[in-house]
Amino acid sequence: MNAGASASNQPIRMLDIIAKKRQGAELSAEEIAFVVRGYTSAQIPDYQVSAWLMAALLRGLDRAETAALTLSMLHSGSLLDLSTLPGAKVDKHSTGGVGDKTSLVVAPIAAAGGLIVPMISGRGLGHTGGTLDKLESIPGFTVNLSLERFHQVLSASGCAMIGQTQEIAPADRKFYALRDATGTVESPNLICASIMSKKLAEGLDGLVLDVKTGSGAFMKSDLAATQLADLMVETGVRMGKRMAALITDMDQPLGNMVGNSLEVRESISVLCGQGPQDLRELCVELAAWMFVLGSAAADIERAKGLAAKLLDSGAALERFRLMVRLEGGDETVIEQPSRLPQARQRSTITSTRKGFVTRIECEQIGRAAVILGGGREKKEDVIDPAVGIEVHKKLGDAVSPGEPICTIHYNSESRAAQAKLLIESSYHIAEAPPPGPRPLVRKIIQAGANS
Ligand code: URA
Repeated sequence: MNAGASASNQPIRMLDIIAKKRQGAELSAEEIAFVVRGYTSAQIPDYQVSAWLMAALLRGLDRAETAALTLSMLHSGSLLDLSTLPGAKVDKHSTGGVGDKTSLVVAPIAAAGGLIVPMISGRGLGHTGGTLDKLESIPGFTVNLSLERFHQVLSASGCAMIGQTQEIAPADRKFYALRDATGTVESPNLICASIMSKKLAEGLDGLVLDVKTGSGAFMKSDLAATQLADLMVETGVRMGKRMAALITDMDQPLGNMVGNSLEVRESISVLCGQGPQDLRELCVELAAWMFVLGSAAADIERAKGLAAKLLDSGAALERFRLMVRLEGGDETVIEQPSRLPQARQRSTITSTRKGFVTRIECEQIGRAAVILGGGREKKEDVIDPAVGIEVHKKLGDAVSPGEPICTIHYNSESRAAQAKLLIESSYHIAEAPPPGPRPLVRKIIQAGANS
C-alpha cells in the first residue's frame, strides 16, 4: 500500500509522507492514519516506517499529529469491554526505567484491593526493561493469552498481564518493536501514542502513569518528563479517563536488581513484605493512586495505608500467585526463587576509591544489562532471562577501595567484559557525599472526572 487516496483525491504515497515530515511539515490525520494502517497490515515495509519514525523523532509531532497517531494506533485493533466484571478498571504504566519492576507488585496489590487491572505491557525498550520479558522468565508463563482467556484470568484474580496482540493494540506491537531496533524511542510524541493507544484499548476508568526522570529515563530532565506527563494526561482526560501522573526519580536503578529473572525475584521479595525500601515505597505510592482513581479509598493517605496492608498481609502475594498459575507459570518460584533462570557466572565489580557515590549514569547500567543479553539489539534477538546486574551501592552510599559496587550475572565472558567497562564508568565517586536525600516522587499531576 504505497499509494492511497487523500480527501482531495490525490494519491497518498509513503515516500511523500516521509519527505514531508523530514522537512518538518505538519501531517494530516489522514496521512498519519495511512502510515498506521499500512504498517499494521504489512503493506508498508519496515525500512520506510523506520525512516518516517526517525523524521518524526527529529522534527517532532505537534499536539494534533500526536492525537491523530494515538487514535489511529488505538483503533488499529478492538477495545476491551470489561463491563461484565464488577469493580473499577484501573491500570498503571511506566515510561520506562532501569530496574523498574513495579508492575509485578502494583497490579496484585490493586487487585487485592478490589480493582480490576487489565494490564497490556511491552517488552524491553532501548536500555529499559519490559514487563513481558520479566514475566516470561517465570517458567511456563505466557503473555500471549486469547482475549477470552485474558477475561477469565481477570475475572478470577483481578489482574492479568499480556502483550499487545493482533486484536488489541496491533499497531503498537509493530511500532514498539521497530522503534526499539532503530533508535527511535526517545520521542515524547511517539511514547505518548505508544502508551496511550494500548492503555485506552483496555477499557479503563482510570490510569496512573509513572513518568520517569533522570539519567536512566528517556526524559532526562524534570521539565521534559512533566511535558510528557501533561501530554499523556491531556490525552487520557480527552477520552474521559481519570488520570494521575507521578514524575519519579530514575537517576539510579530502582531497587537493587536489573535483569529479567533477577527482577522477578526482587518483586517477589517485596510481595513477601521484604525487598528494598525504594521499590516498596514506589509500589505503595503507585497502588495508592490506583485506589484513589478507582474510588477504593477516600484520600491518598488512606490509600497508602490500604496498599501497605495488602502487601504486609500477603493478600497481594496471593493475587500474584493466582495470576502466575492462571497464565501457565510455575508458581513454585515464589517459595523457591532458585527455580528461576540463573546465570552460570558471577563477577563482582569493586570500587577503586574511597568516598561517596555522587552520580550513577543509570542509562549505562541499563545498556550493560542489554549487552549481557537481557535486552535486544535487533528485533529478532532472543533474550537471556538469567543475566543482569545486582547493584550494591546506590546514590549517597559510602564506599572503600575493594568494596563491591555491583555483581554481574552473565553467561558470556566477552559480553561481561563490555558490561563491566560500562558499569565501572557509570559510577562517580567523590570525597563529599551528594546533597541530601532525593525524593522518589518529584511531582504529581491529577486530572479527570474525580480530580
Ligand atoms: N512504554 C511504552 O509502552 N511505550 C513507549 O514508547 C515507552 C514506554
